[in-house]
Amino acid sequence: MTAEFCKVANKADVPEGHVKVFTVEKHRIAVCNVEGKFFAVDDLCTHDGGPLGEGELVENTIECPRHGARFDVETGAVVCMPAVKPIATYPCEERGEDLWVAV
Ligand code: FES
Repeated sequence: MTAEFCKVANKADVPEGHVKVFTVEKHRIAVCNVEGKFFAVDDLCTHDGGPLGEGELVENTIECPRHGARFDVETGAVVCMPAVKPIATYPCEERGEDLWVAV
């Protein structure tokens, strides 16, 4: 099955250096703005279910507010323990002023 893109927000809703959580097809997706580029990841830390969307962006990584694991927002890879499993990432496209995510 191919994922369909859904419009999730206006680009202005996610300022540079910030993360916002949106519900897309019943999934909580954290949209990250890294220097004007947008990335979409699961709002769920693989360590113990922490709310990643409430974490901080540190360059191109998102830091879990619960125990400090960090993940690359582009690839989902773990860059800092205690998490060991990557997070899910989703295609995120800019279309004009809008952001579309495929879940
Ligand atoms: S729940 Fe995210 S680091 Fe523990």
